[in-house]
Amino acid sequence: MLKLLINAPKGGVGKTTIATNTALLLAEEGKSVLVLKLSGTSRIKYHIENAKKNVPNIYGKIEVEEHTDENLPNFKGRGKYDVVVADTDDNWNILDQLVDKKRKGWRVIVPIVPSDSEAMQSIPEELQPIVNQSRIIGINLCMKIVPNKCGLCDDSSSDISLVKQRLQDCGLLTYMSRYYLPYAGRVLPPSSPIFLDNSIFREQLNLLLFELGIL
Ligand SMILES: Nc1ncnc2c1ncn2[C@@H]1O[C@H](COP(=O)(O)OP(=O)(O)O)[C@@H](O)[C@H]1O
Ligand SMILES: [Mg+2]
Repeated sequence: MLKLLINAPKGGVGKTTIATNTALLLAEEGKSVLVLKLSGTSRIKYHIENAKKNVPNIYGKIEVEEHTDENLPNFKGRGKYDVVVADTDDNWNILDQLVDKKRKGWRVIVPIVPSDSEAMQSIPEELQPIVNQSRIIGINLCMKIVPNKCGLCDDSSSDISLVKQRLQDCGLLTYMSRYYLPYAGRVLPPSSPIFLDNSIFREQLNLLLFELGIL
């Protein structure tokens, strides 16, 4: 079973969005997906249940498990699923646990939003010590930092350059994804975070999952 974690210490960067779209994309590909809600505030269960009603061929392919405590479960012996996708809260608790407890085999997506100056400041800054710790204790972090909502204020390529520069300055460039997610906002329905009808979003998410060895 493949295990994917989406984590960042900042709200609004797209953790729940990426987790939701990833789970749906994988289910469309015929995978059996367990979505793990490790965030008290996440509405992922609602989004997935809604999508299941509207897209009949993924029905039965995705289950959502809600955890009230913020702990990274041990998934030994849960072979029923092909992939587990974990959505997390706005802190590094779960990534910290992964490193501290030497949990092996998890792949990690860290979204960052170029137009969100707080996220651009805090995400690389707070990630550095965790990466250093992982190196000290010999955990090989399979992690990709992916620019999200690119093109929201400017064009996507200058947004990507901004993230690249920031990660280079922080010594984290090796973790930057070769791909990005575009700003895929639309008017209706305002609360739906499902962006797979946006061809660039879908293509880039697909490539990101390939990059991480999930697809
Ligand atoms: N690529 C994107 N394009 C357009 N809107 C996005 C994108 N990614 C996230 N959003 C929107 O941004 C808001 C916050 O996203 P969310 O996934 O809930 O962030 P987090 O889980 O990190 O708090 C939501 O309204 C979501 O629909
Ligand atoms: Mg969320």
